[in-house]
Parts: sequence; C-alpha cells; structure tokens
Amino acid sequence: MKKIPLFDLKRQHFLIKKNVLKSWEQIYDKNQFTSGDETNNFEKKFAKLCNVKYSLGIHSGTDSLIIALSAAGIKDGDEVITTPCTFSASSDCIVHVGAKPVFADVLSNTGNIDPTEIENKITSKTKAILLVHLYGVPCKMDEIIKIANDNNLLIIEDASHAHGSLYKKKPVGSFGLAGCFSLYPSKSLGALGNAGIITSNNKSFIKKSRMLANHGIKNLKTKYIHYFSGFNKLIDNLQSAALNCKLPYIQKVINRKLEIANQYNNAFEQIGLKGMYWPKYVVPSIYIYSFQTKRRKKVINIFEKNGISTGVYYPIPLHLQPSMKFLGYTKGDFPNAELFFKQTLSLPIFPELTNREINKVIFAIKQL
Ligand SMILES: Cc1ncc(COP(=O)(O)O)c(C=O)c1O
Repeated sequence: MKKIPLFDLKRQHFLIKKNVLKSWEQIYDKNQFTSGDETNNFEKKFAKLCNVKYSLGIHSGTDSLIIALSAAGIKDGDEVITTPCTFSASSDCIVHVGAKPVFADVLSNTGNIDPTEIENKITSKTKAILLVHLYGVPCKMDEIIKIANDNNLLIIEDASHAHGSLYKKKPVGSFGLAGCFSLYPSKSLGALGNAGIITSNNKSFIKKSRMLANHGIKNLKTKYIHYFSGFNKLIDNLQSAALNCKLPYIQKVINRKLEIANQYNNAFEQIGLKGMYWPKYVVPSIYIYSFQTKRRKKVINIFEKNGISTGVYYPIPLHLQPSMKFLGYTKGDFPNAELFFKQTLSLPIFPELTNREINKVIFAIKQL
C-alpha cells in the first residue's frame, strides 16, 4: 500500500473534473473571466451556508482579512488583539493596514484564543479582536462577544479553517462584523487556485469592502469614478465556477471528516490517550485533525514506519516569527501557545480516505 498522504486533492478533483471543465468552457465562450454570474451565485450560496445576509468573494483569504480590516476602519495607531496560534496571514493583515497585532495566549485544550487573556490585553488603542477558529474548532464565542460588547470592540473572525463549523448551532462567520475565509485548494471548501470570501450582516460594511476590493468604484454606472484608493481583489469568475461545483458537497465533506476524526479519537481513547479536543456544544468542520503529544519525534517515526504521513500545523507561534520580531515579544511570553505548537501533530484527514486507509491509521494510533 502507498504511503497515506495528509491531503489528496487528486481524488477530489477527479470526481468533479467533468462539471468544472464544462462550466469553465461556458465562461470561456462568454469571456466572463473576472466577475460574472458564477460569482454572484457563489456569494449567495456561501452566505446561506453561514446564515448571513451578505458575502463578498475576494482574491484570497489573506486579501479578505486585509479588506475586512480596512473596511472596518482599522488603521495606523490602532491595536488588534489576536492569537499567536495560527498561520501568519492572521497577523500579517493587521500589519498591512498599519495597526499593531497584540497577541493573547491560548487555551491549552483547543489552541484557541483565551477570552481571559483578551481582557488583559485591552488598552485605549484596542479597536478589534481578530480570532481564529483553529483547525475548525470554534472559539469561545459567548465570552468573546461579551468582552467585545463591554469594551466597544469589533470582532473579525478568521474562519479559514472552519467552513460550516457550528458554535451552539450558529455558523462561524456570522458572529462579528465580518467572517473571513480562505478558499485555498487544501481547505474544506477549496478553489482551484487562490480565492477567499468575506461574510457579514452589515450592508454598509460589505458595500465598503466591495468598493475597496474594486478600485474604490461604487457601481458600473460610475465606473471611472474612484471614491477612494482601492485594490483589484475581487474573486474571479473561473474560481467561483469551480467553487460552485464543490459547494453542494460541503455538508458531506464536513460529516465525513467528523466521522473520521471521531474514529481516530475512539482509537486514542481505547489506549488511554487523548485525541483531538472540541467542546460538546460545537459541531466542528474539521480542517486538520491534530492531537497533542509530548514525544512528537518518536510518534512521527511510529506513523512513518506504518506508512502514514504526519504534519505540524504550525511549527512556530506567531509571536516568535522573524516577521513579528519588531513587536518585541520573546520566548516564554505565551507559554500555552508555545507548548501547544511544540506538541501538535496532525494525521491524514480528507473525505476520500478509504476505510482501509482509516483502519491503517487507527492501527498505527494503537501502536502509541
Ligand atoms: C488561519 C488562516 N488564515 C488565513 C489564511 C490565508 O489564506 P490564503 O492562503 O487564502 O491567502 C490561511 C491560509 O492557509 C489560514 O490558514
């Protein structure tokens, strides 16, 4: 048997190839490459998935965060509280709008931002909380919303790992001013190239975001009037078409990944170890299956010997990244975050994994 990969996009893309190529051919014939019907259609359907009024397709997840922060009015001199346990884009976007990322430590069970730590970091300059639902497990939203309301702070959700995750039955991306999603190919809902999307219930915020992402233009009638300096960051019609071919399967993807994660968790439980943690009141749309281990190197070797790939998401917490050195943080500043990333290890999880492959992973887990 071949080594089991962490992700295998070939299997997924083989299944939808005909549909994607057919819709791409139609776009080719209509020459609607940038914006068009496929984009409008995708935005409507994605908004429905997140139970919000509006959504706006953007060129990438990173751009969706930058546009959302700009449209929210975050600027030079402001502070945004965020987590060190995430991918670099979650704090890069804060730097790109001229504001300062202020990290707060995480909870040791989920790796998500700790609400109590958020409170400790609030100053007169704090304007927003940018939270990340790590691996697909929603953050503690009740507590975070209370802190935001009490202190007049905006909430921006980076839901790039969590397409369709539910917190107390409510979808992520619907809690704050904005939800930002990466639709990078490996994500639970992934384009065939770069793409992202912003979700919101706030009409004027979405209008401002759309203008920012389209050169500051209001609408087609006033096409060459630029009300402010914007970007060229709208999603293109080809990516929207590919996403429209995948979106009908998202619930199946979420269910299957959760089923696999539960099987892995049962295997860990059977040998007295802990698998991946999520609270009972959430239904995670798991992007990455990750568990904590004190002996990561040894454990990686055991999986390697059994022909199973493993991954580390992510090796370095953001406060210790060279890119964030200017903020002046040092080792030991966020002990939970540092330990969480030191001990995190991921196993293969994608909907097309066969039962035989899942059993092979379970067999290897039991070797631990
Ligand atoms: C949590 C998180 N935020 C933002 C991004 C950036 O998304 P993109 O690669 O689509 O720009 C990623 C990408 O992996 C991510 O994992």
